[in-house]
Amino acid sequence: MAVIADRCPHIQVTVVDLNEARVAAWNDPDLTKLPVYEPGLDAVVGRCRGRNLHFSTAVELAIAAADMVFLSVNTPTKTKGVGAGQASDLRWIEASARQVAACAQGHTIVVEKSTLPVRTADTVKAILSAAQGDIAGAGAPKTFSVLSNPEFLAEGTAIPDLEAPDRVLIGGEDPAAIEALASVYGQWVPQERILRTNLWSSELSKLTANAFLAQRISSINSIAALCEATGADVNEVAHAIGTDSRIGSKFLKAGPGFGGSCFQKDILNLVYLCGHYGLHDVAAYWQSVVELNSWQQHRIARLVVQRLFGTVTGKRLAILGFAFKADTNDTREAPAIRICQDLLEEDARLAIYDPKVPEAQIAADLGCTSSSSAEGSWHSASSPAEAVADADAVLILTEWTSFAELNWQELAPLMRKPAWLFDARSIANLAAARAAGLQVWRVGSGVK
Ligand code: UDX
Repeated sequence: MAVIADRCPHIQVTVVDLNEARVAAWNDPDLTKLPVYEPGLDAVVGRCRGRNLHFSTAVELAIAAADMVFLSVNTPTKTKGVGAGQASDLRWIEASARQVAACAQGHTIVVEKSTLPVRTADTVKAILSAAQGDIAGAGAPKTFSVLSNPEFLAEGTAIPDLEAPDRVLIGGEDPAAIEALASVYGQWVPQERILRTNLWSSELSKLTANAFLAQRISSINSIAALCEATGADVNEVAHAIGTDSRIGSKFLKAGPGFGGSCFQKDILNLVYLCGHYGLHDVAAYWQSVVELNSWQQHRIARLVVQRLFGTVTGKRLAILGFAFKADTNDTREAPAIRICQDLLEEDARLAIYDPKVPEAQIAADLGCTSSSSAEGSWHSASSPAEAVADADAVLILTEWTSFAELNWQELAPLMRKPAWLFDARSIANLAAARAAGLQVWRVGSGVK
């Protein structure tokens, strides 16, 4: 919404939320305090806020005034009831649709921005059409058009992804509504990159894009394990296959498995949908992408224990990186969570350093405060040097650029010998680490 406001100064954009603290944070005069860390976002918000970008808790007023409403609410995986563990929880979509139905005035275009299961637009349409024709105040009768406009940005690169998208996808049935939304994006996106489809293709394309991307990561991680066993190097294999223009070079980086709020959730959703339509073999195929991902995370924790003479009980391990990828403070489904939990279960003592993730977030993710864990314990370190002090091993779990530049001549002497570096992101200067006396393991090539 900030980028739309930035690129369309003639459009008033109001972002509303019931959560007062969150809205207050978005209105904080100190742009470093925005609730989301995303490179470049502070500058965009700084340019538009108060001009044509507003953050407010006045949900009903904003809906009443809007020509177009984007539903951008959370759709997490259900934790109980029918479809638990796979289906998306649509309670917030339904609640928002009901609120739009109640508060809208005149004609309103309702845009599904949240990632949704296929045919959710039916639900949204059913709720809206129950209010169709009602007259709010002295206004015109209510009418609605529903569009699907999934978001393909990735965290950490959100601003460039939005400013120069590969494509914008708009699904719908009402040509006038489709063109109204296309004209918003048309302010800065070339027309040939604005794709128009039917509603269901649009909803399904989002799940499919994420499933294909995640599948590439599971594929390369499966080959990483085989590389470690055979003496091949996964980076060389990835480069060799990536130069085939049919395969392409992106999303072939082996690592500790994918994290983030989308991939696992969307694949599980796809699995649930396939099951719902009786396509059980298709469901099993996509389920295996998620299973391989969990396996990779457990595998890394297991091999750390094996290398440290089969036990990490009471040993100090430095964890560098907790975010699910670099350039974000987001930890949702971060591989570091599962790897740390496995190591805590083995009674390790973890010293965790991430340049952007606060201690309270780590505590929430690990389900225990820094000192209270029955098995093992963890604390948050304020620098890599503090984390590695007296440690038997250091694990790199997020590819922050600063980790590529670590000075192993300085860090290695702080550790207890024999000491290990486990580079799960293939980012560290391994020659320097070896020269400093560390034993080194790298994902997809094994012990070097
Ligand atoms: C993803 C999609 O890329 C985006 O299009 C969609 O809108 C939302 O989901 P995001 O989750 O922000 O975006 O990050 P992404 O860059 O896709 O990375 C996801 C995970 O895969 C991260 O944990 C990352 O470290 C991992 N990854 C990515 C790899 O392990 N190897 C790769 O080659 C690429």
